[in-house]
Amino acid sequence: MPWTETRINDAKVKLISVILTAFVVCASGCHGMKCCGKKFKEPGKMSVKVEPFGKTQDGQQVEIVTLANGKGLTARITNYGGIVVSFETPDRNGVPGDIVLGFDKLDGYLKGHPYFGAIIGRYGNRIGGAKFTLDGKEYKLAKNDGENTLHGGVKGFDKVVWKIEKAEAKGDKAILKLSYISKDGEEGYPGELKCIMTYTLTMGNKLEMKYEATTDKPTVVNLTNHAYWNLAGQGSGDVLGHELMINADKYTAVDKGLIPTGELKDVKGTPLDFTKPMTIGSRIKEVDIGGYDHNFVLKGKGGKMKPAARVYEPTSGRVMEIETTEPGVQFYSSNFLDGTLKGKEGKVYNKYGAFCLETQHYPDSPNKVNFPSTVLRPGEKYETVTVHKFSTK
Ligand code: GLA
Repeated sequence: MPWTETRINDAKVKLISVILTAFVVCASGCHGMKCCGKKFKEPGKMSVKVEPFGKTQDGQQVEIVTLANGKGLTARITNYGGIVVSFETPDRNGVPGDIVLGFDKLDGYLKGHPYFGAIIGRYGNRIGGAKFTLDGKEYKLAKNDGENTLHGGVKGFDKVVWKIEKAEAKGDKAILKLSYISKDGEEGYPGELKCIMTYTLTMGNKLEMKYEATTDKPTVVNLTNHAYWNLAGQGSGDVLGHELMINADKYTAVDKGLIPTGELKDVKGTPLDFTKPMTIGSRIKEVDIGGYDHNFVLKGKGGKMKPAARVYEPTSGRVMEIETTEPGVQFYSSNFLDGTLKGKEGKVYNKYGAFCLETQHYPDSPNKVNFPSTVLRPGEKYETVTVHKFSTK
């Protein structure tokens, strides 16, 4: 072969290998995001990574677990409070953004915060007078909200270190399974409660939260997650322009302390009517408690999977749909954020800077005979599932 031909062939081989290498780097590194100016559509792989996140004040080691689906969804969850620290999803142009409020470091969480991204237990939301009677016996609970108990008491499940039972990528799922044993009498609640909370990220762009519990004495349980979402990006401003739909035509009416009166009221003709999509800001000024902080009674059967809510953010195009087996959802428009908390990347969190949709049993159910029961007895299994599905339009 003449010398020039060999050189040309060499050059061709080099060019092909450069193109191939660029393609492989693109495919492995870009995970369905915008890459080299193009949107790469090849599906990636599920992955799980466990790294140290620091130590609690009493010296317990805490980890942070990254679940990724290789298609742009990445959840970072710590076993301190089971907190979702960050959650990245692509916008309509494939550009990733972190859509939950929180802190970069464990320290931020240890200093105290309004339940950002945390698992809430034993009892999500309020129990009036911080007491309830079960099988003729009265139990007094820790008061941490005036005369009431809120979100499990002084040291709820959001402030304990959960054990990592499993952190693995399997097939089209990335799974983090956490467990916590709550002692008999903890925060005043009877019975030793063994809890398992499993976060599963799927190839189908879903984040599933499954809660399981068993007890050795009759008790009450109501577990949820308290993520503060802002679909335009955490710290990017208020959520008043987000469109919200809630699958409920009734809500639980409350007194001044936000304790249900027992009455289920119609949302029709009120600012709580989200049966058709409405922006959060449309009627928020008409809500007499300074914003939304209400439990909506979901249509459909408790215990069965059903749509709970759908949120659309027009500037990013992000859509989040929630399905749950729970009978209710607390819609909270972060009315208590006041700009004093600085979160991730130094972002300031102002009033209405996020929304929470906490799927749950109704607040104060232990004191309301007409509400679906939250009682768990020995031999029974508590199990609820909530799924968040992400897309863009
Ligand atoms: C829930 C409650 C609110 C508030 C927040 C946390 O959504 O209903 O009243 O306590 O949690 O700040």
